[in-house]
Amino acid sequence: MLDHLRETDYGTPARLSTEEVTLTIDGAQVTVAKGTSLMRAAMDAGVSVPKLCATDSLEPFGSCRLCLVEVEGRKGYPASCTTPAEAGMQVRTQSPKLQQLRKGVMELYISDHPLDCLTCAANGDCELQDMAGVTGLRNVRYGDDGANHLKDQKDESNPYFTYDPAKCIVCNRCVRACEETQGTFALTISGRGFASRVSAGQDEPFMQSDCVSCGACVQACPTATLQEKTVIELGQAEHSVTTTCAYCGVGCGFKAEMKGMQVVRMTPWKDGKANEGHSCVKGRFAWGYATHPDRITKPMVRAKITDPWREVSWDEAIGHAASEFRRIQAQHGRDAIGGITSSRCTNEEAYLVQKLVRTAFGNNNVDTCARVCHSPTGYGLGQTFGTSAGTQTFKSVEHSDVIMVIGANPAAAHPVFASRMKKRLRQGAQLIVVDPRQIDIVKSPHIQAAYHLQLRPGTNVALITALAHVVVTEGLLAEGYIDERCDAKSFGQWKDFVAREENSPEATAAITGVPAEQVRGAARLYASKGKNGAIYYGLGVTEHAQGSTMVMGIANLAMATGNVGREGVGVNPLRGQNNVQGSCDMGSFPHELPGYRHISDSTVRGQFEAAWGVTLNPEPGLRIPNMFDAAHAGSFKALYCEGEDIVQSDPNTQHVADALMAMECLVVQDIFLNETAKYAHVFLPGCSFLEKDGTFTNAERRISRVRKVMPPLAGYADWEVTQLLSNALGYPMHYSHPEEIMQEIAALTPSFAGVSYAQIDKHTSLQWPCNADTDEAGTATMHIDKFVRGKGRFIITQYVATDEKVTQRYPLILTTGRILSQYNVGAQTRRTPNNQWHDEDRLEIHPQDAEDRGIREGDWVGIASRAGETVLRATVTERIQPGVVYTTFHFPESGANVITTDSSDWATNCPEYKVTAVQVMPVAQPSAWQTGYARFNAEQLGHLQAATEVVGK
Ligand code: SF4
Ligand code: SF4
Ligand code: SF4
Ligand code: FES
Repeated sequence: MLDHLRETDYGTPARLSTEEVTLTIDGAQVTVAKGTSLMRAAMDAGVSVPKLCATDSLEPFGSCRLCLVEVEGRKGYPASCTTPAEAGMQVRTQSPKLQQLRKGVMELYISDHPLDCLTCAANGDCELQDMAGVTGLRNVRYGDDGANHLKDQKDESNPYFTYDPAKCIVCNRCVRACEETQGTFALTISGRGFASRVSAGQDEPFMQSDCVSCGACVQACPTATLQEKTVIELGQAEHSVTTTCAYCGVGCGFKAEMKGMQVVRMTPWKDGKANEGHSCVKGRFAWGYATHPDRITKPMVRAKITDPWREVSWDEAIGHAASEFRRIQAQHGRDAIGGITSSRCTNEEAYLVQKLVRTAFGNNNVDTCARVCHSPTGYGLGQTFGTSAGTQTFKSVEHSDVIMVIGANPAAAHPVFASRMKKRLRQGAQLIVVDPRQIDIVKSPHIQAAYHLQLRPGTNVALITALAHVVVTEGLLAEGYIDERCDAKSFGQWKDFVAREENSPEATAAITGVPAEQVRGAARLYASKGKNGAIYYGLGVTEHAQGSTMVMGIANLAMATGNVGREGVGVNPLRGQNNVQGSCDMGSFPHELPGYRHISDSTVRGQFEAAWGVTLNPEPGLRIPNMFDAAHAGSFKALYCEGEDIVQSDPNTQHVADALMAMECLVVQDIFLNETAKYAHVFLPGCSFLEKDGTFTNAERRISRVRKVMPPLAGYADWEVTQLLSNALGYPMHYSHPEEIMQEIAALTPSFAGVSYAQIDKHTSLQWPCNADTDEAGTATMHIDKFVRGKGRFIITQYVATDEKVTQRYPLILTTGRILSQYNVGAQTRRTPNNQWHDEDRLEIHPQDAEDRGIREGDWVGIASRAGETVLRATVTERIQPGVVYTTFHFPESGANVITTDSSDWATNCPEYKVTAVQVMPVAQPSAWQTGYARFNAEQLGHLQAATEVVGK
């Protein structure tokens, strides 16, 4: 591997002490933080000490004895990785004796190691090889006829990496990475002395162990023992490009290691502030979808969805879409068309689509997938705190004493943050989980939640108010904080409300199903005086009829206990898609311009009108569900949908599909023929994150660069396609690079005023608000001295039972969620070996409910709601409580959203995915919807094949 691809390894982690010590290393004076190892201090002095078992992402272990040094006045040869620097020490890292000792150590290692460096996949990227050179080892005195491990069997069970024990030096880095960095504890060293070997689980193949394929052990391994299969196949990379993961809202930084235009591997970036060198199976390994043969790289057009597709030139496709949009507006009015921005695309691309809708379309009919996930966060936090985003950095959790996780499953959906949180929990922070399911974090290695409030789906608001009741009535309020920082009138009203007996844990237990004592205990723990309480929440909060109310309930509780405005506390939505924060920031909602400014505000509108040269409509446009309703009613006829699979991801699939079928022109821009594209008239090929420049904004409000590592497979980046469409519609756009789009965003959006690509490059990432009033790198923690809205506002959170009630006909509640290996609608991860972990959606059902219905593990079961019916296989498990069933939604043929209804949040229309009343019964055949889907899917794939066959002739 070329040296410039390697990141500097300081050997041991940095220490944060403010106390410093000064010492001398090889004659050079160096000053370091107290607690720093001699090895790291030496690096600061420009001296690299040989090492094998040490690496700066892990605590030192001191097993290889290669890093020995001499310390004046001390006997022996201490290991520099485990010896802390002390004031006045005189350290020598080089001497004939040290050279001899190190050579001896290396000789022993090499004597039990294959001598196949030239043909080894790690040749040039192997620390053992480097150390042989550094220590001057030229030959080995011991032959290979003694006992050795050279014939140990390779484990190739994991689809992404191999374990070759013949190459293992038992340095323990992998075991420590799995424990310290990832927190899975899947690896151990089995045996003793010469027999010591790394073993996954109970000496099982990696795939059968608890390993979740995060790659931390592979990253930590100094040899080719744990090695990416792509490196074995393709060889070492030639150059690397720093970019940002395109999966979840953690927004991990990666180095795309490249050979020409080919990705060799993705390695987590140590300077990526969201992940600090860690990764999960999706970002680290599941990037092969980007060049999957299913990618569509030619624009296509057809008159009706029953017609075969016809591959056409870009000019024809764009021209056709533009003329159809104009025809429809002429016939049915300006508001008969709209657009959907993508939370998978960059900020610049989302900005451009909403700009196109407001300028070229001349209306505000623009929405984004946040409608179906975190729109209640925007509303709820906006009402209480004054801004629509999480308050902290992910790193802030390292300062939390009590962590409350509500309606989120970080180990599955935000894995790198989960690892960070678990580390803090192992250090002693306490955990409260509010979730209907026994999610992994409730009990995982060395972690046990202090409280798991296993509430009934749909009763969040009753529970959060009961928690607040305990805080108010047991004297746990942070009164000084409230007096100083919050609005007195709203606080007084809220306090009186929550103190009512009807809101007590005892009174609400019948609603929530959570015993009162548990609620009281959890409230006391979260509100502990002098401790930092942090709340992290997910879609289990927002995707409810009272989603916005619950977000406000969380904000109330945090303010009432003084837990907003410093490190270690806060209210943090864990956002799902990589750029859902960004797409919201960029003005993707029908009522808001970029920066969350209402379209009815004439001053703000005036600024955009001046910059864009158009008159903007002051009335909010249609939300996604309104677009569907209007399509059913015949008044909405065309849609430009970029990077969003509304047919699979929105509730009540049949209703969505019927709405799309009622449209005259559906234009889909995507990398695959997704479920929505099967209803489209124009298909514009999109590009993956590897093929374009831009920025993503993660759940910490962190804006990071996305960098092009290969040209767009279809010729244009997504922002260029939007620009072509706009020009064809007669509204000129002439950007030559996304950087120019960001300059426009910064000029028009006060919270982005300090954002530029140069500043991102300088600081690695920026966090909005980022302007003249903030640090140059933006704002890490929000609301430090005061809330963005001035005084924090308490809002009354009256529990209202959802209309989606269990009945005799539908006696169970279905709730939905995600799994680690698959991502959202699965379009990307289903096209990777991640399917080996999870290749179907299953229905989880409690043993009691299963027995009542004669359902056994693996049986096919029909799930019926008032919206529709589908069939899945059953998993009988106690993870789920009686009366509740659960499924994921990663496979289109599962039809999970065929059953979800159009019940939605009162404030934002966010669908109530988490609560659907259903009946579950054993069945022998697919549902009518599934049979219809299979037929429709086959037809549409035939129409796609027809397009390529015509061109092939
Ligand atoms: S597999 Fe790699 S990291 Fe683990 S003990 Fe062996 S050489 Fe060290
Ligand atoms: S890939 Fe991750 S989970 Fe699996 S053994 Fe390695 S560190 Fe542990
Ligand atoms: S945690 Fe999220 S952002 Fe990080 S690697 Fe995994 S999917 Fe990508
Ligand atoms: S690097 Fe210090 S003992 Fe291995």
